[in-house]
Amino acid sequence: MPGRCYRGKLSVWAGLCVLVLCWFYIFPVYRVPSDKEIVEEVLRQRGVWHKNQTGIELYRKLLTDCCNPRRMFAVTKENSPLGKVLWYDGEFYYSHTVNNETYPLFVQGNPLKFPLKKCAVVGNSGILRRSKCGRHIDQADFIMRCNLPPLSKDYVADVGNRTHLVTANPSIIEKRFQNLLWSRKAFVDSMKVYGPSYIYMPAFSMKPCTDLSLRAHYALADSASNLTMLFANPEFLSSVSKFWKAHSVHARRLSTGLYLISLALGLCEEVTAYGFWPFSVGLDEQPVSHHYYDNILPYKWFHAMPEEFVQLWQLHKSGTLRMRVGQCPP
Ligand SMILES: *[C@@H]1O[C@H](CO)[C@@H](O)[C@H](O)[C@H]1NC(C)=O
Ligand SMILES: *[C@@H]1O[C@H](CO)[C@@H](O)[C@H](O)[C@H]1NC(C)=O
Ligand SMILES: *[C@@H]1O[C@H](CO)[C@@H](O)[C@H](O)[C@H]1NC(C)=O
Ligand SMILES: *[C@@H]1O[C@H](CO)[C@@H](O)[C@H](O)[C@H]1NC(C)=O
Repeated sequence: MPGRCYRGKLSVWAGLCVLVLCWFYIFPVYRVPSDKEIVEEVLRQRGVWHKNQTGIELYRKLLTDCCNPRRMFAVTKENSPLGKVLWYDGEFYYSHTVNNETYPLFVQGNPLKFPLKKCAVVGNSGILRRSKCGRHIDQADFIMRCNLPPLSKDYVADVGNRTHLVTANPSIIEKRFQNLLWSRKAFVDSMKVYGPSYIYMPAFSMKPCTDLSLRAHYALADSASNLTMLFANPEFLSSVSKFWKAHSVHARRLSTGLYLISLALGLCEEVTAYGFWPFSVGLDEQPVSHHYYDNILPYKWFHAMPEEFVQLWQLHKSGTLRMRVGQCPP
């Protein structure tokens, strides 16, 4: 049966092609520079920075075209009506259909007030220690922070204390607040440092996150908290991942910081990033802790922080956003 034989060969070749393509997708030819090379490059380029309006507008357009942050960044009644299927972006094949229980928890539409002029995105790297960036950060018009960071008196000078949007990773709620099964009051009280801001949770990214995020929503709503819960829209998160994949960031999952910077580049007129430094040595060759408040390392292989940093540093060099590494001027 020659026909069948031919088909057999064809599928072997097709299979090989797919394998090779997968190989290049997972292990791209592009090589990430070593940490030392990056630090040297940053030291060389650190001095002057010029805002580049063309770059800012280009990236706002690219991100609007791919990901439409204005309409899509959160799950809203407008973009997720009853019956809408939300596909989890962090699971292989799992979805949530918006129903009578979840729909009332969504905000009506995008609640942010435009225009957003100066935005500050604050990562949690130990590079913020003794940076004296607190006043700079607090002067921004819209301040985003990652993963419920502490803003106590000890840190104010370095990280500021104003917040407009803060992300909450369900894993931290699991650890710090026992899944909200017991200590709802501790959770609500510790949220007070963020004032009347938005709390942004990836409720539809992984299956176990959903119940936890709904519980966090109820805990805040029941206590008449000043925070507003926004659920991250999985469609937005996965479109942002695709965007960065096309820009050589090959992570299983992007860091929260990169999602926020992407959001800011799409929404704000000017973006400054603080506390993004995924290396264990600083520009002064002194050790840098992983976070400004502790030195607990994340799971290896999950994120691709140095690759993300290289991309952000390119944007810094072109004047599209500003990265603050090291001390802020007094
Ligand atoms: C400004 O940004 C544009 C778009 O990214 C880029 O082509 C151009 O080289 C940048 N200008 C400077 C001076 O870096
Ligand atoms: C949702 O609520 C509406 C009105 O309250 C009701 O008519 C409808 O049957 C409910 N749908 C489901 C799936 O429970
Ligand atoms: C924030 O910090 C400043 C000092 O930098 C202080 O004056 C102010 O009271 C603080 N605000 C809050 C809400 O803690
Ligand atoms: C909400 O904000 C108001 C005014 O700033 C304050 O009086 C109130 O205590 C806050 N409520 C909570 C639960 O933090």
